[in-house]
Amino acid sequence: MASPTKELVRTANLTKTYADGTHALTGVDFSVTKGEIHGLLGENGAGKTTLSKILSGILKPTSGEIYIKGNLVRMKRPSDALGLGVGMVHQHFALVRPFSAFENIVLGTDLNPTGERAKEAKASIMELAKGVGLQVALDTPVESLSLGAQQRVEILKMLYRRVDILILDEPTSSLTIKETGELFKSLLKLKEEGKCVIFITHKLREVMDFCDSITVLRQGKVTGRISKSEASPITLARMMVGRNVEFELKRPPMTPGAEVFAIDNLTLLDKAGKEVVKDVSLRVRRGEIFGIAGVEGNGQTELAEAIAGIRRVARGSIRLKGTETGGKSSSVIRRHGAGLIPEDRRRMGLILEMNLEENVILGKQRDLQFRGSLTSIAWRKVRQFTSDLMKKFEITAKGPESPARSLSGGNQQKVVVSRELSSDPDFIVAAQPTRGLDVAATEYIRKLLLDSRSAGKAVLLISAELDEILQLSDQIGVMYEGRLIGVGAAETMSRETIGLLMGGIAA
Ligand SMILES: Nc1ncnc2c1ncn2[C@@H]1O[C@H](COP(=O)(O)OP(=O)(O)OP(=O)(O)O)[C@@H](O)[C@H]1O
Ligand SMILES: [Mg+2]
Repeated sequence: MASPTKELVRTANLTKTYADGTHALTGVDFSVTKGEIHGLLGENGAGKTTLSKILSGILKPTSGEIYIKGNLVRMKRPSDALGLGVGMVHQHFALVRPFSAFENIVLGTDLNPTGERAKEAKASIMELAKGVGLQVALDTPVESLSLGAQQRVEILKMLYRRVDILILDEPTSSLTIKETGELFKSLLKLKEEGKCVIFITHKLREVMDFCDSITVLRQGKVTGRISKSEASPITLARMMVGRNVEFELKRPPMTPGAEVFAIDNLTLLDKAGKEVVKDVSLRVRRGEIFGIAGVEGNGQTELAEAIAGIRRVARGSIRLKGTETGGKSSSVIRRHGAGLIPEDRRRMGLILEMNLEENVILGKQRDLQFRGSLTSIAWRKVRQFTSDLMKKFEITAKGPESPARSLSGGNQQKVVVSRELSSDPDFIVAAQPTRGLDVAATEYIRKLLLDSRSAGKAVLLISAELDEILQLSDQIGVMYEGRLIGVGAAETMSRETIGLLMGGIAA
């Protein structure tokens, strides 16, 4: 048991019930000591973000106590938490995109970013950044920074406020392997300085490598607290899910059928007219998963956008069942038989303000099965359809009328995937389909993609998770600097070969 002075955070019997009656946390006893990286694990919807938001003053608990550095505290707003040294970096960044990194860091403090003390402040941020290895171009607008750099801005923002309890909610879910490595170096430095980090992730490998101890939540309750030496991926997964998780999926042998989807010499441009996808060609057949590996930011996002009809094609063609779909709208492409699972489900897959049934018929408003009279939607049918989907795809939410925003990340993704698969498409493009998902939901979505393959669909999988590519794909190619390189049958490509190609090195 840690001595109370070393205990930076403790909660006793913490409970949170949301206004709609959802019990997000029940009787949570949680603690973190000085100089520790503490992993907070749990399935989607387990209550990790809720707990973090309570600790950082964004939400008020329904009951229970919070001790910060040994003192019982009552926080009413984030500034109270910051004053006590607690700061949180959110699962979805909250930066002001047109503002520079520097402006974002000082935003909300009493410093005027164009005033006299700005220069001093900038120098001190630079020093702070250097000290913990979190360098960023301070004068660059946040919207032109990479996701990794944006995250460094968020962390610096907290450190600038002298936070010594740093909560990171899934900080690595959209970072490259290199950026993740750099982030951990910085976190280790913070730990040496005697700060503590509460680290939320679904990646068990990271937990095993970097966390000193781990608390696991399941359905709002603590199922255990263990030290790293006691933990293994299998025990952690079992604590999270309450059953054994299959890390190895079976990919039954399949003979691919006719070609369904083809891209020829596709070139795409960014806003500035620079080529971000260069002369890409590929083919996907029925009963086949074509996996595109690669570090994020090498053109995959743009490629997926063009396939989904939300990015202009500069040159080349995209064909679905022989028909050119390049330049067509998403709804036309869907009606032509495509399931589109976008990378950024919160921006493109769902409309968070709308409820589940509205989201489920997004893009299907003209679908005859939901038609009432000529111009109206039969909401009763939609509701039935939605609750059937919720059952079939094990979507945890109160009901079809729950707002999409209130669902956990994993359940939001299940809504998108279930909607896209429910129209029985011939072709599915799935971009980063398991990003941010817990082990059970990841297993589930991967199985669905394999089932789609067995059902004779053509699947294009775009993923930065090498394991996912290797588990699911029949053919593999790697995106590197806008080009698709090293395309070949999965059996002929080793993990090492793909890893090297991801770094631009031909094996
Ligand atoms: N504003 C809200 N209103 C109602 N229920 C909510 C709200 N926010 C979250 N919930 C519910 O509370 C529970 C816990 O959600 P929370 O976001 O804390 O989970 P999580 O562990 O962070 O999940 P994930 O790994 O998907 O991010 C879930 O059942 C979720 O649907
Ligand atoms: Mg969360």
